[in-house]
Amino acid sequence: MLSLAVLISGGGSNLKALLDAAADPDFPARVVAVFADTDAEGLAHATAADIPAAIVRPRDFASREAWGDALARRIRESGADLVVSAGLMRILPAGFVRAFAPRLINTHPALLPLYPGAHAVRDALAAGAAETGVTVHVIDEGVDTGPVLRQARVAIVPGEPENELHERIKQIERPLLVATVRDIASGALELPVGASEHPITPHPHT
Ligand code: GAR
Repeated sequence: MLSLAVLISGGGSNLKALLDAAADPDFPARVVAVFADTDAEGLAHATAADIPAAIVRPRDFASREAWGDALARRIRESGADLVVSAGLMRILPAGFVRAFAPRLINTHPALLPLYPGAHAVRDALAAGAAETGVTVHVIDEGVDTGPVLRQARVAIVPGEPENELHERIKQIERPLLVATVRDIASGALELPVGASEHPITPHPHT
């Protein structure tokens, strides 16, 4: 059974999809902890499912790296084997990435390498693209640059507002993320082993 720590910033519909999938005893992963960087509405999904959840705010730390170190410590304490960034709207510091790579994945609302960053849906519309989509990828030290695990396409309806397109993307994204996690957990999908790989081990002080 794979243990997941899920990182969010917003509504948490991808988190909810993972929680719903994990309610099936045959699903090979469980959410063991949820962390947000802000007062994310999605924390309510964790509370409703009786999963430990906490806010770890960057502004409470002297630097981004210090925030990342604190978050990493909390994740190790949770016993998670895989970190899932599901709508975390913040770049994870390099030390954090090195601590968990490659067991650290992100879902992004575009067909990477197209439209990386915080405004992927808006950027696809602004470019006049005919299609966009979703990418689930391993996080590396760049911004949305890590190895792609799974992608799915979504056609753009001309004149469609950003929020409506994003909602249609999320309808594809949620099952894609769940399927990707299931395949990692079952061994059907192997994470690329990089030089910086570290197994996630329980924190020595727990
Ligand atoms: C998702 O579409 C996710 O791909 C995106 O935020 C949304 C979160 O939705 N993430 C990014 O744009 C990261 N660059 P949710 O809170 O309903 O799961």
